[in-house]
Amino acid sequence: MKALFICDEREDWILLINIFHAHFPKIELICAQTGQEALESLMYEGSIGVVILECALKSDDPTELAKKIFDQVGPRPLIFVGTSTIIKSRVKEEFFLEHEMVSIYQKPYDAITFVESINEALEWVKKEEFENSIIELNSDKFIPMRLRNFYLHNTVPFDVYVELTKTKYMKAISADQVYTERTIQNFQKRNIRFLFIEKNEHLNFLESSIVKIAQNLALNDDQPKKKIQSMIAGVLVIHQYLRDVGISDSLHLIIDQVIKQFPKVVSSYSDLKSLLLDFPLEQGDLAEQAVLKGLTAESMGSLLGWSSDLSRMKLGLAAIIHDCFLDRESWSIITYRDHPELDDLSAHQVQSFLDHTKTAAEMARQFTRYPEADFIIEQHHELPDGNGFPNGIQASKITKISALFIVANSFVIQLIESGLSLSTIKNTVDSFESIYSLGNFKEIFTVLKKEIKKKSSPSNL
Ligand SMILES: [Fe+2]
Repeated sequence: MKALFICDEREDWILLINIFHAHFPKIELICAQTGQEALESLMYEGSIGVVILECALKSDDPTELAKKIFDQVGPRPLIFVGTSTIIKSRVKEEFFLEHEMVSIYQKPYDAITFVESINEALEWVKKEEFENSIIELNSDKFIPMRLRNFYLHNTVPFDVYVELTKTKYMKAISADQVYTERTIQNFQKRNIRFLFIEKNEHLNFLESSIVKIAQNLALNDDQPKKKIQSMIAGVLVIHQYLRDVGISDSLHLIIDQVIKQFPKVVSSYSDLKSLLLDFPLEQGDLAEQAVLKGLTAESMGSLLGWSSDLSRMKLGLAAIIHDCFLDRESWSIITYRDHPELDDLSAHQVQSFLDHTKTAAEMARQFTRYPEADFIIEQHHELPDGNGFPNGIQASKITKISALFIVANSFVIQLIESGLSLSTIKNTVDSFESIYSLGNFKEIFTVLKKEIKKKSSPSNL
């Protein structure tokens, strides 16, 4: 836990830092000179449990500042410090009476009484944390949401939990309280990948995420890399929505918007290599893979001279949803029927993996504005030699548009596995030569090879 001291007297900083060192060694004391600095610290530091506010502060009215703090991060122990005259003139009695966690400490400082005052504030924090943080509930009432979803917001209108056991949950974010990026990063550092929300809040959360992402995607002046990040956030929500809710108008809207970005982003780069090398690959998860595959497919389509919106829409939808129904994200790198990863899975899991193409294709059929995207999706693991799945189709029976997506899919999976660099991009293309020089794949592969092998100007790499 941290404490925040707002005061413009450096001597008082030193005094309080020494008191905290001696009596509260586990609590970090952050000092702010103005109200503005204090509000920023509360926004970016996170986990500040106690605020100590010097009432002789020149930059702000102490009561007004306390109100702003409570508005921004919610009520928490706040100690007004000052001489009796300053406190009388600058602390509004009604504010003090209204909040039980607000107290007053009359100067001059005395180590013993000041420590008592801090201890009282800490007791309040502990009691609140204990009462509010751990709850026992049936896991059926909760839905896991990927941690990354929470970067889109800085406050949510419901409590968010970390799962401790299948029935015990600990409150991680309180309803309507501002949280910071650092709060989410701290969960990430603790290897927490999901936060849990109650089922009845789930749909609202997804809908409000869609609105935020749609706003971000509508920004025309965004750098292509930022645009890609918004697309990844969009695909993450689309996957969650499709798995948990199904199809709706707002889902259509966000899918359309993500698909519209593929040509815009591709045309922002001089060639596919510079796009790949600029791609913000972090976790290689399904959302990042989907966007990378969509951009690769768009780039290959435009190199082949395919400019129709319909091809773009089919490929775009295929890229977004083809792996949406994989039971496990780690299965996304399995690209052929006798892949060694399958050896460790149960028969049921293998079947579920093999079925993911058909399940996604069935879902695609419900998007009537994207005809034939279902074929592309169902065939995304087919191979030119007929050793792919689910149907083991030969190259001659695979359409060009499916062939393009199959190559883009394998290309991206290979890059996710080997890491994105100039040499892995070139090596991947080289390794594809013997596999994809057949039937309808030949022209597709040749275009990709030419694009990757062509010399880029040094400034693009
Ligand atoms: Fe797949």
